[in-house]
Amino acid sequence: MNEIVVDPTTTRAWASLEQSAERIKATTLSELFAGDPSRSETLSFEAAGYGIDLSKNLIDEQVIGELIELAQEVGVAELRDAMFAGAIVNTSEHRRVLHTALRAPRTSALVIDGVDIVADVHAVLDQMGRFVDEVRSGFWRGATGKVITDVVNIGIGGSHLGPLLAGEALRRTVSAPLTVHFIANIDGADFDAETASLNPETTLFVVSSKSFTTAETMMNASLAKAWIVRALGPDSVAKHFVAVSGDRSAVASFGIDPDNTFAMWDFVGGRFSLGSAIGLSTMLLIGRDAFLEMLSGFRDIDEHFTQASLHENVPVLLGLLRIWYACFLGAQSLGVMPYAADLRSLPGYLQQLVMESNGKRVTRDGRVLTTPSGPIVWGAPGTDGQHSFFQLLHQGTHLAPIDLIGYLHPLSSHRESHDQLMANLFAQSQALAFGRSAEQLSASGTPEWLIPHRVVPGNRPSTLILGERLNPRSFGALIGLYEHEVFVQGAVLGIDSFDQWGVELGKDLASQITAEVQEQMPIGDHDPSTGRAIARYRAARRDWAN
Ligand code: F6P
Repeated sequence: MNEIVVDPTTTRAWASLEQSAERIKATTLSELFAGDPSRSETLSFEAAGYGIDLSKNLIDEQVIGELIELAQEVGVAELRDAMFAGAIVNTSEHRRVLHTALRAPRTSALVIDGVDIVADVHAVLDQMGRFVDEVRSGFWRGATGKVITDVVNIGIGGSHLGPLLAGEALRRTVSAPLTVHFIANIDGADFDAETASLNPETTLFVVSSKSFTTAETMMNASLAKAWIVRALGPDSVAKHFVAVSGDRSAVASFGIDPDNTFAMWDFVGGRFSLGSAIGLSTMLLIGRDAFLEMLSGFRDIDEHFTQASLHENVPVLLGLLRIWYACFLGAQSLGVMPYAADLRSLPGYLQQLVMESNGKRVTRDGRVLTTPSGPIVWGAPGTDGQHSFFQLLHQGTHLAPIDLIGYLHPLSSHRESHDQLMANLFAQSQALAFGRSAEQLSASGTPEWLIPHRVVPGNRPSTLILGERLNPRSFGALIGLYEHEVFVQGAVLGIDSFDQWGVELGKDLASQITAEVQEQMPIGDHDPSTGRAIARYRAARRDWAN
């Protein structure tokens, strides 16, 4: 794509936003609410079944208007449309970005280079569905004729975090005839811990790797193969291993039957791949229909993102909000607090989605950024975080915007627990925004000397994201919402949100250092600190390696 990447700092909107930042810094959320009685309505939006209340953010309608002008000046909508149409928006890797095709309806078509990729996507979904039906019904059996009771997904990054999150989030929605486990870390202790209670006869491994070269996954897949072969013999591999990959020949060389391979495509980035065959372990857990429901949730938000006006477009507004905090108010992070225990892995998932996408230093055309990059993402489920780091949110000196996510209907039968869970969510959002003043403390009899310690200043921003129920469809919509807001951030900053060159140096060095720690090579030309650490390791290794 031959495009001009606009430097956002040169736009008219940017200059206006700089002035608005001074106005907003000089006021407070209390004053903003007092000055506009309809603020919570005008700054609340709906998308794909979620209510998103932006009113407790450090913004006003003028800021929103200027942010939308910024999006218009840099061409966010044009880039969005180009992405959906299959343009090469991942310029540094010269790739199309079409995770949205993973949830396109079967009746639609998207022809790229003469191939209808929607038909390809549905062919793989059908293949997944047939396989999943066979395993869940007990038709597919292990090498000794036993039904599969445990599935182990071996993968890392986008080939792990999405299936892990979805598995936890959706396992209650349907009764699963099997349990799904995950092995990601290259630490052999992870492999041992996950397989300790498993029976090889009833275990199926799903090796998930788009590239089929990732060191962690290849190491763990080899350990798994040895574990199965040791227990059941070499002919058992076909019944205990399937693969998800874009590289069929690499899968075949590893020894997995090509008929048991589920395809991935170059146009789906790892961190955007949950709706692809990378979600096979999720489909095995929740079944074909629930998986398709999840895809329809993704589609709901795709439709909203492509059709809603920018003024009501929630992924656009959220992406612009992150830009506002990072570029105009100096925030460096985004906290994500799901008030749903089953979304406990959402912060980890979003760390990859946001930080691998927007943690960049140059624009799509290679110029050094004139703005901060995307935020550092962190978080934990409410209410756990309240008894840990929320102290800093209430009284620390950092500006740390957070998302508070909750569901109106409980997932468990413990109604009282759900009432308290949601009461805590609402309480945090109020306390962060409005705090507790010295006057209020004094009036309630707090001794003078203690008042400074107990004052909660408020004016701490949060976004309230409320869904009806956590189910496959709403889950898909939530993930799609974050996918698209990440895209919007990247579009405004002018960066390629779909490459990840920064992770390569560490991989290169690790493979060189592996030979050094194993004493196949002398210690190379490292900085003194790294060289000393390697030498110390080699000395210790001589004890345990013999
Ligand atoms: O190294 C980073 C990365 O490429 C991620 O982008 C990706 O999700 C992960 O590794 C796993 O890659 P693969 O699916 O090819 O094993």
